[in-house]
Amino acid sequence: MDLKYLSREEVLQKLEMPVCITLMRDVFQAFADGRLENKIRSVLPVEPGKLLGIMPGLISYEEAVGAKLITVFHDNYKKHLPSHQGIVAVFSTEDGTLKGICDGTAITAVRTGAVSAVATDLLARKDAHTLALFGGGVQADMHLKSLTCVRRIDAVYVWCPSLAESEAFAEAHREQYPGIEFIPCEQGEDAAKNADIICTVTPSHTPVLKGEWVKKGTHINAVGACAAKDRELDSACTVQSRFFCDSRGSCMAESGDFLFPVQEGLIAEDHLLGELADLVSGRVQGRQNDEDITVFEALGLAAEDLACAAWLLKE
Ligand SMILES: NC(=O)c1ccc[n+]([C@@H]2O[C@H](COP(=O)([O-])OP(=O)(O)OC[C@H]3O[C@@H](n4cnc5c(N)ncnc54)[C@H](O)[C@@H]3O)[C@@H](O)[C@H]2O)c1
Repeated sequence: MDLKYLSREEVLQKLEMPVCITLMRDVFQAFADGRLENKIRSVLPVEPGKLLGIMPGLISYEEAVGAKLITVFHDNYKKHLPSHQGIVAVFSTEDGTLKGICDGTAITAVRTGAVSAVATDLLARKDAHTLALFGGGVQADMHLKSLTCVRRIDAVYVWCPSLAESEAFAEAHREQYPGIEFIPCEQGEDAAKNADIICTVTPSHTPVLKGEWVKKGTHINAVGACAAKDRELDSACTVQSRFFCDSRGSCMAESGDFLFPVQEGLIAEDHLLGELADLVSGRVQGRQNDEDITVFEALGLAAEDLACAAWLLKE
C-alpha cells in the first residue's frame, strides 16, 4: 500500500493558523448543521498523569471517517518533550480505504489554539487588547499565535509555576511579536486582573484562576483541564460567567471546571448556555454586554483533528 504520511514538520508548515481558524469555524458550523459526528474520547490510563486517548469522528462533507490516537503525558515538559504525541488516521467513507495519516502532535497543537480563536472572536469584547496566559508551554505559544489573529493584542501577561519560566516565555516571544509588551508575573492575580482575555493552558489538577481576580468584561478560554477530576477555574469563576463549551456531551463527562460547582450545588446543568456550534451559527447569544464575563470551555473534539487531517491530505 502506498501510504500518504504527513510529518510534524509538514503539518506545521501547511496548517497555518489563519487557515486552521477558518477550518475550525467550518467544523462548528457543520456541527450546527448536523454534518458531523463525534464520539467522546475513550481514555486508557497508563500511570498517574499518563494516558492514551482514542478519539473517533465522522466528517461526511469531507467523506472522511477516522480517529486520533494520542498519548498525553503531562510531565513531558520537564523533559522538553510535547505533552501530546500521536497520529490522526483518515479513511474514505465511500469504500473504507485508508486515505492517509498525519502527525497528531502538530494537529493538536494548532487546532486547539484555532478553536479558542473562533470562540474568542465570538465572545470577547471587540476592544479586548490585553491577554493573560496561564502556562508557558505549547498551548500558550499556540494561543498567542491564534488570538493575535482575531484581536489586536498589545500586552501579554504570563504566569507559570516559576517566574523563571514566565520570563523565559516572554523572552522567547518578544522578537517575534515586536508590537506586544510581555509582562512575566510572579502571581496569577497580577496576570488575571490586567487582562481582557485569559487563557488557562496548564495541566493543573486544582484551580489556577480565581473568580475574584477576573475583571468585568473579560473572556476566558479554559483549555488545560480535560478530565472531570481536574480543574483550572475555581467555582466562583464558573458561577459568575456566561459559560459555553465545545461539546455539551464532553462538558458533562470531562469538565471539572463545570462539574465541581454543579456537585457543590452552586449551579445547575442549565448554567451551560450553549456549544460553540450554537455561537457560530448564531442560535445562541454569547456576550450580552461589555460587563459580562464569558468562559469557553475547550475539551477537544475528534472532529477538529479529523477536519485538519482530511484537509491536509487533500492538499
Ligand atoms: N482542550 C484541548 O483540546 C487541549 C488540547 C491540547 C492540550 N490541552 C491541555 O492543555 C494543557 C497544556 O498543554 P501544553 O501542550 O501546552 O502542555 P506543555 O507541557 O507544553 O505546557 C504545560 C505548561 O503548564 C505549566 N504547568 C505544569 N504543571 C502546572 C501546574 N500544576 N500548575 C500550573 N501550571 C503548570 C508548565 O510549567 C508549562 O508551562 C494540558 O493540560 C493539555 O492536556 C488541551
